[in-house]
Amino acid sequence: MTRVLSVASECAPLVKTGGLADVVGALPAAMAQLGSEMRTLIPGYRSVMKQAKKPREVITFDALFGGPARVVMTKTAGLDLLLLDAPHLFDRAGTPYLDESGADWADNAARFAALSYAAAHIAQNGADGWCPDIVHGHDWQAGLVPEYMHRLADGHPKIPFVFTVHNIAFHGNCAADQLEVLLLDEWRFTAEHFEFWGQISALKAGLTGAQRITTVSQTYAEELMTPEFGMGMDGVLRARRNDLTGIVNGIDLDVWNPATDPEISPYKTPRAKGVNKAALQAEFGLAQSDGPLCVLVSRLTEQKGIDLLIDALPALLGRGGQLALLGSGAAQLEVALHELAAQNDNVAVRIGYDEALAHRMIAGGDAILVPSRFEPCGLTQLYGLRYGTIPLVALTGGLADTVINASPAALAMNAATGVQFSPITAEALSNAFTRLCDLYQAPKTWGILQRNAMKQPVGWETSAKAYGQLYSELTQG
Ligand code: ADP
Ligand code: GLC
Repeated sequence: MTRVLSVASECAPLVKTGGLADVVGALPAAMAQLGSEMRTLIPGYRSVMKQAKKPREVITFDALFGGPARVVMTKTAGLDLLLLDAPHLFDRAGTPYLDESGADWADNAARFAALSYAAAHIAQNGADGWCPDIVHGHDWQAGLVPEYMHRLADGHPKIPFVFTVHNIAFHGNCAADQLEVLLLDEWRFTAEHFEFWGQISALKAGLTGAQRITTVSQTYAEELMTPEFGMGMDGVLRARRNDLTGIVNGIDLDVWNPATDPEISPYKTPRAKGVNKAALQAEFGLAQSDGPLCVLVSRLTEQKGIDLLIDALPALLGRGGQLALLGSGAAQLEVALHELAAQNDNVAVRIGYDEALAHRMIAGGDAILVPSRFEPCGLTQLYGLRYGTIPLVALTGGLADTVINASPAALAMNAATGVQFSPITAEALSNAFTRLCDLYQAPKTWGILQRNAMKQPVGWETSAKAYGQLYSELTQG
């Protein structure tokens, strides 16, 4: 049995801002089926400490980046958690990354350095007798783990470190004058380790310090090594080409199951989706219409291509299509979407974060839109597949790997599950809307698409095996 310490800044259902939380929350159960024992270390944010069941103190730090801290163990929401309870860093209102005004916390570097330091401490000393065989860190918030593992083990870490990139856009950089404060070794502040254009980069520390790097789809693994998608880290990743693999995310098949979903009128066949569509139209104040009801559930950021959607929308609306959108994020996008809804009876927008509504939308939509400029994996298209809600996606990253475009050949082979567009422009998206509407207006073909979609394996089985294989290569090598 391999014991794995998973380290991340989010974990569903306790704390979530995006897909990272879903993945970190689902991995332990998926890995348990293969005989790995995974425990998850996350920050003890105020809201997380409130949810923790019977927390038991297992490590204390007299001072950790500016104040006393401790690690508590708890079994909460079925997860074996280690929480870094450091009130000076995490006992705050706001989100994991932003203060109440929406700005990054000024001390984010120290907050997640502390998380990484605690992980390295557990790698070196265990926690209450539990000693991991491997540390698996996620994104820049866990990037400094290998640096601290070196430091705490005098240059000879006991166990390997695996680093998963969920999104290369976030580097976790801070100024070089923080070296001492962050307990980083000055002699390692070089381009081989964690120096990035004169700054300290937690992401780069993870990329250079990990024994193996994974990312969340094979296409994104390739894209990461190109200047277009690598966000400045493509050279670092090309140098580590032989240690980089793509392992596509799965979804939790119990949480996302149209046959048992408590938020919806459950269904097993796509024909029975209609009642959910009618309910969703009513909930969003949309009338009945001839075209497909498209849904979108997303953070509203540049990455997600919302501006492209706004420009391309006439192609959908002109065919009697509708849009129901749920999201929150960039203020200018929120304003633009409100305006769009005010001008069009067939567009409805909810600004906010609402897990239950997301379920009702994915059940009630005919199609789910993911027009991202880049998308390491993407999860909502996977929910769409499972719910027979046809994904219309940009041809990039995990969207390229998980959707089979309804080309004439794929339709003829009964393989198609959705619609993809490329290049990622408003024009190509407009054309994709036209194709979507054509397919929708051919009910027999649409029904085949829906059934194909619902048959796709979107759980964790294959990917958990890939992680298991990687863990055993590292622990046995
Ligand atoms: P990312 O991690 O880049 O945001 P993913 O598609 O991997 O993109 O994951 C997003 C996750 O967050 C999904 O589980 C999605 O349902 C959820 N989500 C995003 N925005 C909202 C929202 N406004 N309300 C409810 N769920 C949301
Ligand atoms: C990131 C990516 C998203 C991916 C998620 C989980 O937030 O933007 O594509 O699905 O991580 O890996």
